[in-house]
Amino acid sequence: MADEAILMKNVCKDFKVLNRHEGLKGSIQDLFSRDYRTVSAVKDVSVTVNKGEIVGYLGPNGAGKSTTIKMMTGVLEPTSGQILVNGLVPYKDRTRNCENIGVVFGQRSQLWWSLPLIESFKLLRDIYLVPQKEYEDMIALYRSLVDIEPILHKPVRQMSLGQRTLSDILAAFLHNPGIVFLDEPTIGLDVSMKSKIRDLIRGLNKEKHTTVILTTHDMGDVDALCRRIVIIDKGKKIYDNDIEHLKSYFGSYRTLRMRLGDDTWEERVIDEKTTDVMEVISQMQKTHKIKDIQLQEISTEEVIKKIYEGGSL
Ligand SMILES: Nc1ncnc2c1ncn2[C@@H]1O[C@H](COP(=O)(O)OP(=O)(O)OP(=O)(O)O)[C@@H](O)[C@H]1O
Ligand SMILES: [Mg+2]
Repeated sequence: MADEAILMKNVCKDFKVLNRHEGLKGSIQDLFSRDYRTVSAVKDVSVTVNKGEIVGYLGPNGAGKSTTIKMMTGVLEPTSGQILVNGLVPYKDRTRNCENIGVVFGQRSQLWWSLPLIESFKLLRDIYLVPQKEYEDMIALYRSLVDIEPILHKPVRQMSLGQRTLSDILAAFLHNPGIVFLDEPTIGLDVSMKSKIRDLIRGLNKEKHTTVILTTHDMGDVDALCRRIVIIDKGKKIYDNDIEHLKSYFGSYRTLRMRLGDDTWEERVIDEKTTDVMEVISQMQKTHKIKDIQLQEISTEEVIKKIYEGGSL
C-alpha cells in the first residue's frame, strides 16, 4: 500500500555454520568437513513500517537485529518469507532498492577515507544523480540542523568517531532516500555528540519525512527518537507497539532505591500490584541499615530489560 515503507511477512533467516574442531589437525579436518549446524537468526518475523515513522528495533546481543537490517537492505536473502521495501524485493532488486535507502552501520564508515567530506558529498550527488538544486537545498538544511563547517573540508580519516558518525548520517540522507537504516549510530559517542546526532536524525525525519529504522542499545536514543518500538529476542518478535503502551503496561512498576549503611545504593524493581513497598523496606531493615530511600518511575531501559528477561508479553 502507499503508506507502507517496509512490509515483512513471516521472514526467517537461517545460517549454516561449520562445527569447528580444535587444533591444527582439526583445522585441516574442517576444510573437508560437512559437519554443519543451522543457526536460526530470524524466526517468523512480520513487521509493517509506515512511511515517515521512526521505529526502534531493539533486542539483546545476537537477537537478529543486524540480520534483519541486512535482509531489508538486500545484502542477505531471507531463507523464507517475504520482504518488500518501497514496494521492491530488496535482494532481487538491489540496485533500485539502494537508490531509495540510506544505511549507516555504527563504527564502519561508508565514506571515502582520504577525501574531504564535501568531495564525498559531490561524488554521492553524482552517483545518485541528485539535481544540483536539491543537493544545495539539502546542504542548506544540514547547515540549519548542525554545525557542519568544522568537518566539511576534513578528510574522514582525520575525523573523530563522532564527526565520522555525523558525516555518515549526512551522507546516508544526501540523496533524500525514503528509508534510512541506522544500525547503532551512537555507539561509542559521548553524551553531547549523542544528543547532537539525535537532534539531527529528528530534524531530518521531520523535514524530509524519512522513514528511519534504528537499532540501538542506548535507551536515550529510544526515548529521544522512537514513538514505536519493535523488540526481538532470539530471532522472534516479542513486542511491537507504542513506547507509551509499554510504559502504561508497566505503570505499576517502580524502582525502589535504598542507600545502605556503607553508602552503596541497593535497587529493586517492584510491582506495586503484587508487592508492598513498605514490606520490602522493613525486610531490608532486618539485615541492613537504611539511610535514605527513593522511589522512582520505571525507566524505559528497565521496562525493556524486563521484557528481554520475560521472553514475551
Ligand atoms: N554471517 C553469519 N553466519 C553465521 N551466523 C551469523 C551470521 N550473521 C549473524 N549470525 C548469527 O545470527 C544471530 C543474530 O546475529 P545479529 O548480528 O543479527 O544480532 P544483533 O541483534 O545485531 O546483535 P548485536 O546487538 O550484538 O549487534 C547470532 O547468533 C549470530 O551469531
Ligand atoms: Mg547488530
